[in-house]
Amino acid sequence: MQIKGVTALVSGANRGLGRAFTQVLLQAGAVKVYAGARDPSKITDPGVVPVALDITDPNTVTAAARQCSDVTLLINNAGVMRMSPFIAAPSIEAAREEMMTNYFGTLNMCRAFSPVLGNNGGGALVNMLSVVSWFTHPMNGSYCASKAAERALTDGLRLELAAQGTLVVGVYASFIDTDMAASLGVSKTSADDIARSAIAGVASNQREVCADARSAEIKAMLARDADAFYAGLARPS
Ligand SMILES: NC(=O)c1ccc[n+]([C@@H]2O[C@H](COP(=O)([O-])OP(=O)(O)OC[C@H]3O[C@@H](n4cnc5c(N)ncnc54)[C@H](OP(=O)(O)O)[C@@H]3O)[C@@H](O)[C@H]2O)c1
Repeated sequence: MQIKGVTALVSGANRGLGRAFTQVLLQAGAVKVYAGARDPSKITDPGVVPVALDITDPNTVTAAARQCSDVTLLINNAGVMRMSPFIAAPSIEAAREEMMTNYFGTLNMCRAFSPVLGNNGGGALVNMLSVVSWFTHPMNGSYCASKAAERALTDGLRLELAAQGTLVVGVYASFIDTDMAASLGVSKTSADDIARSAIAGVASNQREVCADARSAEIKAMLARDADAFYAGLARPS
């Protein structure tokens, strides 16, 4: 898809990767960029159009689809991660919030915007996934489950929307330098670099984009020997 001239909507655009997506899209020649946020007053960058959007609230999702009826590129970026293990967590509330946002919220957006994209010639729909869409780490197991569900959604949508000519792209990344991963003392890729790789992948019509080197490595390791990969996770570090 040619990025120059697109009208895009990015969810969760007030900070982190979402904000980086809006800037990269403007630099790449997007004609209009809607910046979706739960609190649109937090959108202060010039050149973007703030939109009130809570992806778990069907009313704001429907209103956004009506307001942004000219969208040709949807970027489902909004997400939460509560660092919650399956068993050691005090309750399933964090797991529920992650699933409600990352899976059901993204599903809300896909359902509301698929007709918009169809009416505008097909366009592209991008879901921001993660390496943990492919494997489950015990430290944040319920987040991994929600991102795996979001991956299943992405792969199914691709087939369901093929007839209307919508390019459906899953973007995979390891740790990104945003608030979400702030507590983790690991090496991270900048949000700008991830957004640039993702948009380059969309521009070259890739269905799956590994937006950093680590995600490509993990994809290859899992394809080669998933048992060995999980054995590595189980070893005390
Ligand atoms: N950071 C990483 O290491 C990493 C790695 C791989 C993939 N990802 C994925 O990348 C995406 C962006 O994450 P990030 O790192 O930029 O996280 P972040 O810094 O925590 O930002 C998350 C964004 O999502 C928004 N959001 C959360 N729930 C929402 C809802 N119900 N409706 C609308 N917006 C909502 C937040 O808005 P508020 O300000 O209102 O909370 C914020 O703008 C997520 O899908 C995440 O799963 C992140």
